[in-house]
Amino acid sequence: MEIKTDFLVIGSGIAGLTFALKAARYGSVSIVTKKEKTESATFYAQGGIASVLSKEDTFENHIRDTIEAGCGLCHPDIVELVVKDGPEMIHELMQFGARFTMRTNHGETELDLGKEGGHSKRRIVHAADFTGREIEEALLRAADAEKNIAIYENHIAIDLITHSKFIEKIEKDICLGAYVLDKNTGKIHTFLAKAVILATGGTGKVYLFTSNPDVATGDGIAIGYRAGATIANMEFIQFHPTCLYHSKAKNFLISEAVRGEGGILRLKDGARFMERCHPMKELAPRDVVARAIDFELKKSGDDCVYLDITHKDPQFVKDRFPNIYERCLSFGYDMTKEPLPVVPAAHYVCGGIQTDSFGETSIKRLFAIGEVACTGLHGANRLASNSLLEGMVFANRTFIKAKEIAMDKTIAIPRIPEWQAGGAVDSDEAVVISQNWDEIRRTMWNYVSIVRSNKRLERAKHRIDMLQKEINDYYWNFVVTNNLIELRNIATVADLIIRCAMKRKESRGLHYNIDYPEKDDKNWKVDTIIRKEII
Ligand code: SIN
Repeated sequence: MEIKTDFLVIGSGIAGLTFALKAARYGSVSIVTKKEKTESATFYAQGGIASVLSKEDTFENHIRDTIEAGCGLCHPDIVELVVKDGPEMIHELMQFGARFTMRTNHGETELDLGKEGGHSKRRIVHAADFTGREIEEALLRAADAEKNIAIYENHIAIDLITHSKFIEKIEKDICLGAYVLDKNTGKIHTFLAKAVILATGGTGKVYLFTSNPDVATGDGIAIGYRAGATIANMEFIQFHPTCLYHSKAKNFLISEAVRGEGGILRLKDGARFMERCHPMKELAPRDVVARAIDFELKKSGDDCVYLDITHKDPQFVKDRFPNIYERCLSFGYDMTKEPLPVVPAAHYVCGGIQTDSFGETSIKRLFAIGEVACTGLHGANRLASNSLLEGMVFANRTFIKAKEIAMDKTIAIPRIPEWQAGGAVDSDEAVVISQNWDEIRRTMWNYVSIVRSNKRLERAKHRIDMLQKEINDYYWNFVVTNNLIELRNIATVADLIIRCAMKRKESRGLHYNIDYPEKDDKNWKVDTIIRKEII
């Protein structure tokens, strides 16, 4: 089947939905999402959205905190525009129906602002500890009511369709659409659009332990790379310091807001250790906290450290963190009475598809917004709760540019051949897929995580190269399935992370290599860039 649309949006989190709601006023929007439409990293975000809303805070403070966390690689113009758009974004979300936690201050009702690592002021707008769910549901209600938006659930994008690949090779390539697998029927559809927006989220599943939902397989980064889009800064993978350590919890996140409200990190014997690592102690930037935990665990051989908020009023803890409290209780931990066992886990990719300040990639009419993008906001380390904000701001900015494209009457949608399945036959070798998945995730965890070395990176490169070759051979011989598409994508993303990490001969922000333990501003205060040659 061929589907023609003005705007093709791949992904249904905060960035994709915000864009779609705006674009729908100017043309038809198709949203492709690989599971149920709610299933996105946005839905699971606990912390909130950072924005300057209190009288004690200023834009300059938020800009400075973001740039300090980013360790010299933030693009100051981008930081400024994102921070300054913050209050308007919060207002828009409230207009879409998101209900954030309020408080009464001297008889006046105002937004309750939380605190997280690296922030010098309280500025995290939140809905208790289920902020993402509140936002996602509000945006979806609005999208469902919009007649110009069609949502295709259980549809996964396989590859982008570009002018160079399907019509003729041109200097500055143009994106024309995507081939998409309908997981319900196994059929592959051709989506053609005037503007394609990648809003596929992150890539935590490339690591064995991650706070991310199962959908986070780096699909957008992988398909963007394969199409020839410029990729930047993939070595900067953020590890969240505190995920619940429990075999059945699947790394359930214990929000940084728990430390923001006074949570203390302790070793097994109860000793506090962040005091000797950073003046901000438990609220130091995440790279510092995650490395400190990793160091303590390697030194002691323990499985986890502990997050202790038992000194706070139990009712306050239950009211502020109802979701975390209930979830921990279901695993047998009462956080008002006992410290929670926690470990770091892969949480956020600061790199991705490089974009300009309007979300456009190096391929014309291809945009990237949200975690899939590298806009220049995060630099070498993302400040907590800046990502939902970035997703919204860039959805808005992309809309401004994409609207012009969609209204341009000279742009015609060309004829494109249907997906060629070749000699593919039904796969009976699911075990090959699970084996390769497991091998990639373990390799990345053991060799390319919080602390890296040249030798570990070389080992990882060698293994991922072999796996990629095997997956590619397999890919072209068998029927395309969701699992095979995701496997191919995580292998591509693993390769990009390793290659970026090998290029950067220093330690900065989230990238720490024991063979180059110092920051080298003279040679490395630059983004790491990778691009596939399209033949
Ligand atoms: C958290 O709640 O700790 C996560 C917030 C974020 O990653 O921005």
